[in-house]
Amino acid sequence: MSFSPYGNYWREIRKLCVVHVLSSRRVSSFYSIRLSEVKQMIRKISSHASSSKVTNLNEVLISLTSAIICRTAFGRRYKDEGTEMSRFHGLLSECEAMLGVLFVSDCIPFLGWIDKLMGMHARLEKSFKELDQFSQAVVDEHMDPNRKTSQEEDIIDVLLQLKKQRSFSIDLTNDNIKAVFVDLLIAATDTTAATAVWVMTELVKHPRVMKKVQEEIRNWGGKKDFLDEDDTQNFPYFKAVIKETLRLHPPLPLLVPRETNSKCIIEGYEIAAKTLVYVNAWAIHRDPGTWKDPEEFLPERFIDSDIDFRGQDFGLIPFGAGLRSCPGILMAIASLDLILANLLYLFDWELPPGITKEDIDTEASPGLVQYKKNPLCALAKCHM
Ligand code: HEM
Repeated sequence: MSFSPYGNYWREIRKLCVVHVLSSRRVSSFYSIRLSEVKQMIRKISSHASSSKVTNLNEVLISLTSAIICRTAFGRRYKDEGTEMSRFHGLLSECEAMLGVLFVSDCIPFLGWIDKLMGMHARLEKSFKELDQFSQAVVDEHMDPNRKTSQEEDIIDVLLQLKKQRSFSIDLTNDNIKAVFVDLLIAATDTTAATAVWVMTELVKHPRVMKKVQEEIRNWGGKKDFLDEDDTQNFPYFKAVIKETLRLHPPLPLLVPRETNSKCIIEGYEIAAKTLVYVNAWAIHRDPGTWKDPEEFLPERFIDSDIDFRGQDFGLIPFGAGLRSCPGILMAIASLDLILANLLYLFDWELPPGITKEDIDTEASPGLVQYKKNPLCALAKCHM
């Protein structure tokens, strides 16, 4: 879906995903998965807290979001730090690296031989084969009549049922199912983890905001053991913190590369059909013409403001805008709300001895998805 050109296939596959896989009803039906995985993360951090061990939030949050999406998409969870888990992460990160790399042939088609010479084609082919084998194994496993089914219906189950129903204008093939599956894995895991890490980074760097958001959450939470997704509807400042983080650190700073369908004129410049377009969301989010003190982390700017990130306000587009905007926004927000509300409700966060907030950098990793490059390491203290 992400990379297919605009046309009947894309329209049908997107409709199928929006209605059957990423709808609000379906996202709610995966709540128990998010809940059990977030609780598992809380147990891990609590054990770090009781032995005063520093928590590497990059590691913890990537393994959490990948466990959530693996269980949601294909009903399995890999053991943290096991060989299967590292193979799975290896596959995804190589695929992302390939998506982030610039191929000479994308810009100057007749120089495509340079890509070949540099081994890019062989690397791409290898990455494709490995992902294909992996997704084929997942589909085969789901089609096995002797398969032990998990309690929750996962995304592959849903797609295989839709294939049987044949209610779309395209015949859904197993290859289409594999493509949607890989698309969702890649689109969901790193974007959500990167956002959660950036939120925690900005909060650790801004103790005033950390205090204010924790007060909001804790005043509401009272003596609850755990917060659920519905509780977060009562946290306007918490929501503003997430928005402000997505403004300063959109995980896909150039969105996803797109192509013009037909010739058009923008600001007097004639743009030919089939031109590759990169939308610089990072720059739009820091435009002084739109934002006051654009470089400052000020969640207050969103209090009593109607500006939202769902694609209606073109000054804030971390999920893109228009026909190709992110269809996974509900799933992303559901996970972010649950993860971050509980990290802030249940723990106080301090920096390891000898480290000050000025030492915490905001350098981003290169590639399509921008993570915090140097891991965020902090000491958790149980609040209750
Ligand atoms: C914080 C988390 C996320 C962010 C910031 C994000 C951001 C984006 C952006 C910027 C785009 C491109 C939009 C455009 O070109 O205008 C996109 C596309 C997409 N996203 Fe997300 N995303 C997130 C989470 C997710 C999740 C959880 C899923 C699915 C489970 C998902 C699935 C997709 C898909 C399938 C597309 C391609 C849509 C198309 O081309 O029609 N995303 N996302």
